[in-house]
Amino acid sequence: MPQVLARKVGLDYDARMTRPRAGMRTVKGVSMARRKKIYEGKAKILYEGPEPGTLVQYFKDDATAFNAEKKAVIEGKGVLNNRLSEFFMTGLSQIGVPTHFIKRLNMREQLVRQVEIVPLEVIVRNFAAGSMAKRLGLEEGTALPRPIVEFSYKDDALGDPLVPEEYIVAFGWASQQDLDDIISLALRVNDWMSGVMFGVGIKLIDFKIEIGRVWDNEFPRLLLADEISPDSCRLWDIETGQKLDKDVFRRDLGNLTDAYTEVAKRLGVMPSNVTHRPKPTLIN
Ligand SMILES: Nc1ncnc2c1ncn2[C@@H]1O[C@H](COP(=O)(O)OP(=O)(O)OP(=O)(O)O)[C@@H](O)[C@H]1O
Ligand SMILES: [Mg+2]
Repeated sequence: MPQVLARKVGLDYDARMTRPRAGMRTVKGVSMARRKKIYEGKAKILYEGPEPGTLVQYFKDDATAFNAEKKAVIEGKGVLNNRLSEFFMTGLSQIGVPTHFIKRLNMREQLVRQVEIVPLEVIVRNFAAGSMAKRLGLEEGTALPRPIVEFSYKDDALGDPLVPEEYIVAFGWASQQDLDDIISLALRVNDWMSGVMFGVGIKLIDFKIEIGRVWDNEFPRLLLADEISPDSCRLWDIETGQKLDKDVFRRDLGNLTDAYTEVAKRLGVMPSNVTHRPKPTLIN
C-alpha cells in the first residue's frame, strides 16, 4: 500500500543527509550519497529507493526536444517540475486516481513506487496542436469534437511512433482490458487537469502520461507514473493564447523558466508561496 509505505519510509529517510543517522535504514546499508543509479533519461534520473519497491526520481534541468536533437540546460526547470508534478499527482490521488507518487523529498527529488512502465506514451488531446495539427492540416488551437486519446510506442530510436490499439494488444504491450482501464484513467486525469487549469486561466490543449504496472499479491494494478509537468502538457493562457509549456523551448518563444514559474505561481505551488508566512501588519 503506498500510504503505508510512505509512512514507513517517511520515518527514517532524508535525502539531504550524507551520513546515515543511528538506526536509520539505508539502501543496503549505504548512505543516500552513494545510492545506486538505476536509469538516467533525458529529463530525470532514477535512483534505488530506501525500501524495496521504491525509487527516488531526480528532476534535472536538462531540456530536450525533437527526440533530443535540440538540447539545453534551463536553470530551475527541475525544481519547478518536481513541485508541479507533486501538485498534480497529489490532487489526482485525492480524487481516486492511483499514482506512483509517495512524497516529495527535497527541491529536486521525490519518492515514488517502482513500476513496470507500459511502453506507451498515452496522449490526450482537447484542441489540435503539434503533430496532430500537422497530420490533419488543422489550425493549432482548433477545438476537437471530444477529447481524443492516442498512443505512441515508447522507442526513442523509432521516434516514438503513433500506434493503433490493435498493435498494442497484438504485440502484447498491454491487454485489451489494460487499454480500457488506461483510457478511462487518462480521461479522468484530463477532466481534473482541465478543470484545475481552467480555474487559473489556462487552457489544457493536450498532455502525455505514462502508466506503470505494480503487483499487489499477484494482482496487477495500473498506476499513473513518470511526471505531469509543463514538459509533458501544452498549456495556453486563456486570454492571450500565450504558451506556458515546453513549446516555448521547442519554438524559441522566450524564457522557459519564466513560463513554468507563471504556471506554478498561478497554481500557488511556488516554493516561496509554500514557505511564505505573511508578516504582521503594523497599525499606528
Ligand atoms: N515509478 C516508476 N518506476 C519505474 N520507471 C519509471 C517510473 N516513473 C517513470 N519511470 C521511467 O523513468 C524514466 C524517467 O526519465 P526521463 O523522463 O528522463 O526519460 P526519457 O529520456 O523521457 O526516456 P524514456 O521515457 O524514453 O525512457 C522514463 O524511462 C520513465 O518511463
Ligand atoms: Mg520522459
